[in-house]
Parts: sequence; C-alpha cells; structure tokens
Amino acid sequence: MNLTLSIWRQKGANDKGKMVDYKVTDISEHMSFLEMMDVLNEQLINKGEEPVAFDHDCREGICGMCSMYINGEAHGPDRGVTTCQLHMRMFKDGDTITIEPFRAAAFPVIKDLVVDRTSFERIQQSGGFISVNTSGNTQDGNAIPIPKKDADDAMDAATCIGCGACVATCKNSSAMLFVGAKVSQYALLPQGRVEATERVQNMVAQMDLEGFGNCTNTGACEIECPKGISLENIARMNSEFMKASLKG
Ligand code: SF4
Ligand code: FES
Repeated sequence: MNLTLSIWRQKGANDKGKMVDYKVTDISEHMSFLEMMDVLNEQLINKGEEPVAFDHDCREGICGMCSMYINGEAHGPDRGVTTCQLHMRMFKDGDTITIEPFRAAAFPVIKDLVVDRTSFERIQQSGGFISVNTSGNTQDGNAIPIPKKDADDAMDAATCIGCGACVATCKNSSAMLFVGAKVSQYALLPQGRVEATERVQNMVAQMDLEGFGNCTNTGACEIECPKGISLENIARMNSEFMKASLKG
C-alpha cells in the first residue's frame, strides 16, 4: 500500500504545532499501525529529518501508552483494539490518514504525538489502591468468599489500561470512564470496601483538580474504549460517591 500520512508535528510543549503530510510506500497490510510509523521514521532518519515522536511500550495492548487519534478516532477505526493492535488492513491503498495526539487540557502535548498523562497517575495515587497489612498476618485472598458476578465485574473493571482514549473521545474531556473503572475495581471486592469512602472522594476530587470535564452520558467513551469498559462503571462511581457524601 502507498499512503499519505497527515501528522501533527509539534517541537515541544510551547510550540504551536501543525499538520505535515508525508508519503509512505510499500506498506504491508499485515503491519501494525506502529510498524507503519516505524517505516515512516526510518525514511525520515535516512533523509536526515526529525522522526515523529510517539509513545509505545508493550505493543500488545497492555501498557496503554500508544495514544494516537487516527482519522478522528482514538486508536483508529477498529473496535476493541489499541493503536499498537490496529492493523494496516483496516486502510486502503491510496488512503490519506490523519494522525493526531490525544487532545485534552489535562493531557498537554509534550512533542508531536506524545502527551503528558501524568494526571491519570495522580488520580491513581489519590486512591487507586488498597492498604494491605503485609506483616505476615495477611489473610489469604482465597479465604474470602466473593460472589462470582462481583468477581467478574471487578475483573472487567480492572482491564482498564489507563490509555486515555475515553478522555480524548469525550466532547467534555471527561475522565469518568477511567475513574469509574478504577473505583469499581475495588468497590466490588471486600478488600476494597475498607477505604471505599475516602477512595471515591479523593479520586473524584483529584479528577476535578486536573481539569477533566463532566460526563453528559454521551457514551462515546464506551464505544472507543479498547478494553470495552462499560458505562455501568460510571453509574457505580456516582452511587459510591453519593454513599460517601451521605456518610459525611
Ligand atoms: S476506560 Fe478504556 S479508554 Fe479509558 S483509560 Fe481505561 S482502557 Fe482506556
Ligand atoms: S504500546 Fe502498549 S498498549 Fe499499545
């Protein structure tokens, strides 16, 4: 396949940035999107030009680093995949593909397609954990019976990889799908109930502090989420937040 890539180039956080067109040739339909970007960067390096900066780590849908907005969709046109899992067979020979960073005030661009998502880390640090006594007297996890449905729902919530596609997709740049998943993961398990009140209050407060918008129940986040995180998690977070507020 021969393609035209229209890519956001931005030298640094304070640079204005602009879209720049590049041609790539002989792209195999079996390549992943990031492999195609590697081909482009090799061409740029060979020409003495600056390669396109983009984030990636695992390249297998686990780390959540590969945040690209492709043809107006977070992680591109396929469903249930991250950018690194997106295959070039989703595109046609001669296509022009637009590639932008995830855009949100709380995800400022560092360079080209790389954005700063440490706001997610600060939300996690504010409550996305359980405090376990590791003195040697810790109760074995298997000794606590948990209803199958709760265990399954907690596991589903735990599959959130913190990629930020939900934020990039949302017209309000809301992080509620992400925070809802993190709150639910613990709220559904007895181990997480101990700190449930402070957790939801602190995580929601940090989310607001970081400048994420509110949820208006559009549902775009659920559609673009590569891990199929359900809107139910937002409802659960809202109910946890209400319960915590009533406790004072
Ligand atoms: S909820 Fe989905 S889209 Fe949002 S950060 Fe988690 S995995 Fe990514
Ligand atoms: S590079 Fe890790 S999820 Fe894409």
